[in-house]
Amino acid sequence: MGFGEETKAYREMIESALSGYIAGCGAPEQLKDAMEYSLKAGGKRLRPVLTLYVCDMLGGDVQRALPFACALEMIHTYSLIHDDLPCMDDDDFRRGRPSSHKVFGEANAVLAGDGLLSYAFDIMLKVMQKDFTPNALNAAIAVSRGAGVRGMVAGQVIDLASETADDPGIDQLRFIQDNKTAAMIKAAVLAGAYMAGGDEAQLDALSRYGDAYGVLFQMTDDILDVEGDFEGMGKTLGKDQQENKLTYISLYGLDKAKEIARETADEAIAAVDIFGERATLLRELAKSCLDRRS
Ligand code: IPE
Ligand code: IPE
Ligand code: MG
Ligand code: MG
Ligand code: MG
Repeated sequence: MGFGEETKAYREMIESALSGYIAGCGAPEQLKDAMEYSLKAGGKRLRPVLTLYVCDMLGGDVQRALPFACALEMIHTYSLIHDDLPCMDDDDFRRGRPSSHKVFGEANAVLAGDGLLSYAFDIMLKVMQKDFTPNALNAAIAVSRGAGVRGMVAGQVIDLASETADDPGIDQLRFIQDNKTAAMIKAAVLAGAYMAGGDEAQLDALSRYGDAYGVLFQMTDDILDVEGDFEGMGKTLGKDQQENKLTYISLYGLDKAKEIARETADEAIAAVDIFGERATLLRELAKSCLDRRS
C-alpha cells in the first residue's frame, strides 16, 4: 500500500473521528449497529488519508479537513455495502467479514448505506453552518460530485449494464473506471487541497493525479480479483469473470492489463511533479499500488 508509519497519525485521527461521529449519530440502535459494523470493520482508509495528507502537504490545518475526510469514508463504505447486495455484485464478504446484508438482511443493508450517505452530507453541512468558507463549500461540492450522478453512482450503473452489453469496449471501460472509483479518489485529494486553500495549478495537478491514481487503483483491484488472496483482500475473489465484468483483463488479458497499470502509475507520478519532494507519499502510493496485496 505504501501506507505505513508515515500515515499512522492520520489513520488514528480518522478512526477516532469516525467512532465519535457514529457514537453521536442519534440513529435507532439497529441502524447505528449496521452503520458501525461496516464502517469500523477495518478498511485501508485510503480516501480520508489522501484528504489529510494533501491538506498537510499544502500547509493546511488537517483538523479542518477531517470532517470531509470522514464524510468521504462514510460515502465509500455505503458504496461498498450497496455494491455487495444480491441485486448488484452479490458478494458475501467485505473487509474480511460477512457483508452487511448477510448479517442485517437486505433491507437494513440498504438503509445502513442510505444512513451513511446522508450522515456524510449532514457532517459537511454542519461545518458550513458553524464556519462558512468558500473553501469548505468547494470541498463539499468536490465530495458530492465524486459520489453522485456524475461520479461513483454513474460508474456503478454502467458497470452493471456492461455485464449484459453486446461487445462493450474501451470507451465504456474507461467511463466505468473513471467514475465508479477514480471520481471518489479525486474528490479525496481535491477536498484536502480546497481545505488548504490550494491554487489553480495545484488543484489541476492533483485532479490529474486523482484521475490516474484512481484508475490505477481499480485496475489493480481487478488484477487482484484474479491473483490476490482472501486474507489480503477480505472479499471473495474470482468474481469479475464469473459476473462477466468489463475490465482491462476481460478486454486485453492479464499481461496487457499489468502493462497499462504500469503506464498509469507513471502518469500519476508525473502529475505531481510541481510539488517536488512534498509529494513523495503520493508518488510512493502510485508506485506501490502495482504490487499491493490488500
Ligand atoms: C474497494 O475499495 C472498492 C474499490 C474501489 C476497488 P478499497 O480497496 O479502498 O476498500 P477498503 O476501504 O480498503 O475496504
Ligand atoms: C466497486 O468496484 C467500486 C465501488 C464503487 C464500490 P468493485 O465491485 O470491483 O469493488 P469490489 O471488488 O467489490 O471491492
Ligand atoms: Mg462492483
Ligand atoms: Mg464489487
Ligand atoms: Mg473488484
